[in-house]
Order: sequence, then C-alpha cells, then structure tokens
Amino acid sequence: MVYKFEAVPWGLKTVWYFQELKDSVPQILTIVNKKKFDAIIMPIFPANFEREGNINDFIKHSYLKSELEVKSDDIQKLHFLISNLSLSDENKEVRKRNREILKQEIQFAAYLGVPSIILSSNSDPVKLAKFIRKMATKYFIDLNTFVLDVEITKDWIKYNQIRQELQFNIPILLRLKKEMTTKNEQRKWLSENIRFVHLNQDLFSMNDQGAPKLDDIQNQFLTSYFQFENYISISAKSPQIDLADHRQYLIHLFKNQQPLSEQAHLASEFFDELQIPLQPYKDNLNSGTYEVFEQDKIKYDLYEDACRKYLKNVKKAEINILMAGAGRGGILERVIFAAQGAKCKTKIVALEKNPYAYMTLVFQKKRQKQWKDVEIVLDDLKSWQTELKFDLIVSELLGSFGDNELSPECLMWAQRFLQPDAVSIPCDSVSYCVPVSCPQLHAKVKKSYGYDSSYVVHYQKYYTIHDIQKCMQFKHPDFNNENQLAQEQNLVFECKQDLLIHGMAGYFTSKLYEDIELSTHPNNSTPDMYSWFPIYFPFEKPVNIAKKQKLKFTIKRVNNEEGVWYEWFNSVLSEDDQLLDGSRIHNENGKKQIIEIK
Ligand SMILES: C[S@@+](CC[C@H](N)C(=O)[O-])C[C@H]1O[C@@H](n2cnc3c(N)ncnc32)[C@H](O)[C@@H]1O
Repeated sequence: MVYKFEAVPWGLKTVWYFQELKDSVPQILTIVNKKKFDAIIMPIFPANFEREGNINDFIKHSYLKSELEVKSDDIQKLHFLISNLSLSDENKEVRKRNREILKQEIQFAAYLGVPSIILSSNSDPVKLAKFIRKMATKYFIDLNTFVLDVEITKDWIKYNQIRQELQFNIPILLRLKKEMTTKNEQRKWLSENIRFVHLNQDLFSMNDQGAPKLDDIQNQFLTSYFQFENYISISAKSPQIDLADHRQYLIHLFKNQQPLSEQAHLASEFFDELQIPLQPYKDNLNSGTYEVFEQDKIKYDLYEDACRKYLKNVKKAEINILMAGAGRGGILERVIFAAQGAKCKTKIVALEKNPYAYMTLVFQKKRQKQWKDVEIVLDDLKSWQTELKFDLIVSELLGSFGDNELSPECLMWAQRFLQPDAVSIPCDSVSYCVPVSCPQLHAKVKKSYGYDSSYVVHYQKYYTIHDIQKCMQFKHPDFNNENQLAQEQNLVFECKQDLLIHGMAGYFTSKLYEDIELSTHPNNSTPDMYSWFPIYFPFEKPVNIAKKQKLKFTIKRVNNEEGVWYEWFNSVLSEDDQLLDGSRIHNENGKKQIIEIK
C-alpha cells in the first residue's frame, strides 16, 4: 500500500509582503483574503518622510491608525516591518533619532499585539542585539516576536553574532537571492529558526504559458525547507502587482513534495524531540516499548538471516544457542525459524531478566507449537549459573551509541558459559561521532535535563559537513579481554566553514554475522530501520569555529561498581594546533547521567 503523508501536514502558509501600501489596511486584508494569502507583512510608516517622533506621526502618517480599524482576529495576520534605520549611524544625533523612532514603532507593534516585529539587520550586531534585549525587557515583548531580516548570501556571521549576544536563536526572515550560496551554506541556514523564507518577485521568471516559475536552485532550497517549515512570503515591486499566480506556483511546488514513507511518517512524531536513552538493564521495559521494537521488521529479518547463515556455515552435529535478553521473543522467534532449517540439532535457551517479559515468553511457549523445545529462564546474565556451554549467543543489547546500553558488560558476563569457539551475533559494535550545529535543539536542552546528559534525537533541523569519525569499538566474544570497557577517544575535526557547533551527534554500526550489519551511520544506514535514532552529546556553550580551525572532541567511557558513564568536552585548535578555547567537562564523575549496573 502506498501512503501519502506530507511532512508539514498543515499546508503551506503564504504571506504577501508589502514594501508600501496604496490602500487602507482593511482593504488590503480583503484583497489578500480573497487571493487566499494567509497573512501580510507591512511597514508601519511609508518610507522616506520626515518624522517628528511623536504620537502625531502615528495619527497622521501610520498605515494603521488604530487596532479598531481591523477585526481583532486580523491583527494576527499583520506582521510589522520596522523602519530600516541604523542604530550605528556615524552621526550621534541621527543615531539618537533613529533609536527613538524604532522604539516608538516597536512599542506600537507591541500595543497592537502583532505576531512579528521584523527588524532590518543593518546595524552593528552587538548594538542591535542589546537594543532588542532592552525593548523585550522594557515593553514585555516575547523575544520570539522579533524577527531579523537577513540575506542568504551574506548575513550568517552577522546573524550568528546577534543570536550569541542575545543568547537566543531569534527568528529570521530569510531572503533568497537569484545567485544562491553554496549547498553547504544553504543547509546551514536551514538548521536556523526561519520564520519566513522570502522571495522577491524578481526571482521569478515566466514559463511558456506566461506563468511565474522559479529556477531549480530556489526550488531545491524550498523543497528542503518544506520538510519542516511552511511560511513563505513574496513581495512585488509595487503594491498594485497581483501575486496570486506566484502563490499558486508555490502551492504547487509544496504539494509536489515527495511524500514521507510510512516508516518515516511513524518516526516523524519524534523529529527533534529529546529523549533520555533507555536503560534496559536497570529498568524493566514495558510491553508498549517491546511492541514498538517488534514493528521494526528489517531488524528482525537481518537477525534471522545472520542466524541462518551461521547455522549453514557451522560444522557441528549439535548446537547450543543462547538468546540473551529475549524480551517478549521478537528475535527469539527468528532464531527458532532459522534453527528449523538447520542441518544440525539445536538446543535453544532464552534468558530474560525482566520478570514480566518472562511471563510473556512462558505464555508464548505454551501457545506456539514451534517454541515447545525452547528452555525459558528468568535470570540476569551477570548472575546466572548453568552447566551448559553455548556455541552461539544471540543478543540485541545495543543503544543509539552502540555500547550505551551495556552490551560490552553483559556480553563479557556471558562469556563464562560460551564454548571457546563460540560465535556472538552481533560480533561487534562501533560508535561514530560528528560535530553538529542544531541551534533549536540546543535551546530545548536547557529546558530538558540540561547539558550533562546525552539524548536520543531524530535530528531534523541540524547541520554538519564534517566527515564522521570512528569512536569506540567492542568485539564479541572477547576471550582475550581486548575490549576496553573504560576508554578515552580524542577526535579532531577540521572545519571547512564558519560554524556554531552545539554538540556531537553519535551513531553506530554493529556487524551481526559476516556481511550482515545493522547501521545508523549516515553514509550507510540500514534502509527502513527505525529502532535507533542517533545520540546527541550537547555542549553547554555553543562553540564558534572559524573556517580551518579545528574542533577536538574528547569523550571518555568511565566505569565503576555503580555503572558506566560518558564524560565529554571540546577544545578549539588553530590551524597549527594551538589551543584557542575549550569547554568544561560535561557529566564529570557521572554527576547527571549514569548507565546503572546494580
Ligand atoms: C533491546 S531489548 C531486546 C528484546 C528482544 N530481544 C527483541 O528483539 O525484542 C533487550 C532485552 O535484554 C534484556 N536484558 C538486558 N540486560 C540483560 C541481562 N544482563 N540479563 C538478561 N536480560 C537482559 C532486557 O530486559 C530486554 O528485554
């Protein structure tokens, strides 16, 4: 069955951007409504007229004389453009006057309660940020109401300075240009807090039928933008020009998006949501969680293929198989299927430490004919005593960062009941890291469990251009004790452009058997597998990196009798490896997050 899901199901919102008005605001709202636009962006005053900077200015010249001119619902359709006046003009008197005028316009916008106060970004970034902060505090305006007008080709560094000074990812109106920036720069913008993407009428050309169209480069950008945002504004050279056909073109482009697959749709409710990693060793998973795992068919298919391949290769008359951490039997069932086709005799033992999942296993054994010879045991791999020796151990104790659900520890405990030539499915786990720019996710961390915790995240609005690097590796079984349960990795990433880094994204691969692998590594992830989203190790203070500087990421896996935890920090290095800056150690001594062993 083909499902059609839209990434942004609530549709495209189009906004008519007026640089000046020729009709009254109520008349314009009527026209705009008729043409099916959702809102307007409009200046408060006509440009280029002498203002005295008092209330009479509003009475005489402002486009909107009073909120009573429009219906109260319609106020929410008005996004205000504040006059383009600089706060850093060379002339002190002009500077002072500009400041007063801007202040007055902002106060008026705040009085009306319009949803956006759009400011030009032509002032000195630090001065502008301080001004915005002051206005927000003094007039009780939500910082999110301020929108910065920026150009895709040139304003990122300026924007980055402003939001860092503000310590807030202020929304932007992003102007697209005929000549766009590089693909990487475009992706960087897409991770930012875009309130509107803006298109000037000049960007459109005409097709053979005389209808407006955009070039491929803008179309591609918009198609990526539509994956998570949906406000787009268009402006014309003159207020009399009709933009209905331009709107129609954008609606068409939006509707023509590739629909999400069913899998992606299921996962979409987790887009950019922070989740605390599960601890299946410490906690007993509930049946709903097992049920979600069990829907990931591809994972189970791969386990079955791996077992079948092993059983085909093995040259033994009798094989003892241990299903370690059987849960409700998802993988166990596939092991049973694989064993049915094997030439050798098999004995299967399923071990589970969660008593309630054990109940389900017992229930299944009574119900399912094929399960009748499976021995089901309620115990912990750490403490279980048995005379049996196993040739094959099958487990799925993997977390988003590979080893972060204690698979190295659990599989080490299990070694005492393995044959010397035993095989483990999986036979390794490898983690990978890459610096990530994700301003909006980073802001959410503050309101969640803070910066000393790692999170599981289905990244959507994020950006990275660095080559992902291998981090920690564990092999199973590990009869020679080569695995380092405690270890430190130092990964150095050279930055290819100016960036603000908000932490590290982590992935894993795990070889099940021979060429059969599970992977969340972005370059070769297992298609349609959604059991694991990547991990996020946040940095409390976002790291500013200039092109060619290096980010060194240090991560330690630390353990004691209580459990295992990660500690991480960053260092900024110059091109010739001089230390320029660095962060504190996050989660030092496991103060916030420990993967408990009890
Ligand atoms: C991720 S679940 C996998 C469940 C199941 N194999 C499946 O495919 O749906 C991991 C299971 O291992 C169990 N587990 C974790 N550590 C264990 C240990 N040391 N001894 C026994 N069971 C363990 C957990 O209770 C959980 O049921």
